[in-house]
Amino acid sequence: MTLHPDLARVLVPEDTIQAHVKVLAHQISQDYANVERLYLIGVLRGAFMFLADLARYLTIPHTVDFMAVSSYGKTAVSGAVRIVMDVREPLVNEHVMIVEDIVDSGRTLSYLYKTLQGRQPASLKTCALVSKNRAQVDVPVDYLGFHIPDVWVVGYGLDYADKHRTLPFIAELKEEVYK
Ligand code: PRP
Repeated sequence: MTLHPDLARVLVPEDTIQAHVKVLAHQISQDYANVERLYLIGVLRGAFMFLADLARYLTIPHTVDFMAVSSYGKTAVSGAVRIVMDVREPLVNEHVMIVEDIVDSGRTLSYLYKTLQGRQPASLKTCALVSKNRAQVDVPVDYLGFHIPDVWVVGYGLDYADKHRTLPFIAELKEEVYK
């Protein structure tokens, strides 16, 4: 396979991603076997691919919904997060799971967890495909696919300037592309 010239190497191949997503879905299906439904919330846009695959591997009743957030000053320590698109339902007494493609600084997941906790769900858990080693997460990541090094990654939902998002694998972007 010829890699796009922007890419340094494949970090997580497609078959490895799919195998891990299946394992996560199996675990989640077991853990939620006795609930009426699981309310999955994908964080746009990055999580759309992961959520689509994860949901199709689930064997329990579930609802798929999305939120979109925007962060001010992504690189700034204090970068605030705000909701730009919310879910359809109030979430009171729902078993809710936040589904993220990546936990990078951890700020988005932390903000969403605290915000959704305030809506009185029956339970609230988090699921992420990848987490960077540098992530400082003050909330639990209950279901995690992979830890990855602190490099810019694209593919399987992740982008660089809206490029490479729909690659079926996760790849490391060459430093010269974003520096
Ligand atoms: C990415 C990713 C996560 C968030 C993680 O979204 O999809 O939602 O950043 O970063 P954090 O842990 O540092 O908060 P991005 O803002 O790039 O938007 P996109 O998903 O629409 O590309």
